[in-house]
Amino acid sequence: MRDLTPTTITQAFADYSRNAPSARARALLVGLAGHLHSFVRENKVTQAEWGAAIDALTRATQFTDDKRNEYILFSDLLGVSSLIDMVNAAPSGTPSSVLGPFHIEGAPELPNGGDLWRGQTGEPLVVSGSVTDEKGAPARGTVLALWQNSGNGLYAQQDKDQQPTNYHARLRVADDGSFAFSTVRPVSYKVPDDGPAGDMLRVLGRDAWRPAHLHMIIQAPGHRPLITEFFPEDDEHLDGDAVFGVRAGLVLPFSRAVDRAALPAVLAARDSLPMPVWSATLNLTLAPA
Ligand SMILES: [Fe+2]
Repeated sequence: MRDLTPTTITQAFADYSRNAPSARARALLVGLAGHLHSFVRENKVTQAEWGAAIDALTRATQFTDDKRNEYILFSDLLGVSSLIDMVNAAPSGTPSSVLGPFHIEGAPELPNGGDLWRGQTGEPLVVSGSVTDEKGAPARGTVLALWQNSGNGLYAQQDKDQQPTNYHARLRVADDGSFAFSTVRPVSYKVPDDGPAGDMLRVLGRDAWRPAHLHMIIQAPGHRPLITEFFPEDDEHLDGDAVFGVRAGLVLPFSRAVDRAALPAVLAARDSLPMPVWSATLNLTLAPA
């Protein structure tokens, strides 16, 4: 095509891509180009504005290494990571949420009733509940992968004073679907905002806070794996989560348990758990595979 104009360029892009070996790849890239073209036309994007965007992407390379990925952070802060999670979510069961950057494979086994807190900084929290299928039957063979930040707000990967697997664990759920463990109450924290993704937040007048949360991957034979996270309902950042991870079904009351006898039996016997202790109940439902 030789008579390219602001209105014909999008069709030209699609025509030039007619020999794409993958129909899906063609659909995605032609669609992306079409949305970008519309964006430029509608906003009459200037050379200076385009240059600033290219500069932000160029600077993102300087903030990206094996511990931090500024491109994923851009995706998270734009809501794209969360939207991809939502459009691919199971139609039933406990809602999913974003994975985030701190999950590790091969975390140590924590016995049912075990303790991740071990007297470290912060307020101890007892988490107990059940994992069932949609009919309420125990999901046999469930393994929970758990991870969260420490009472100082940092994940083990961000803090040289923590063991590399601190507050990371794998817990095998009992045959009746029940589980319990003690940990520290997670605290709200800021995503890294010293790079170009943080600059975007400042341009938008947004802040970098995430509400406190407990990350979990729940896997059971015959069920869809569930990647999710749980939030205390009293957190002040629930309505401004920088990465858009909050879902209504994932916000839970965290209450103060005063009576040791009211704790799950596997935890009530542990004298080292100071009372009162924070307590949260997670009753999880898995969708079929
Ligand atoms: Fe997190």
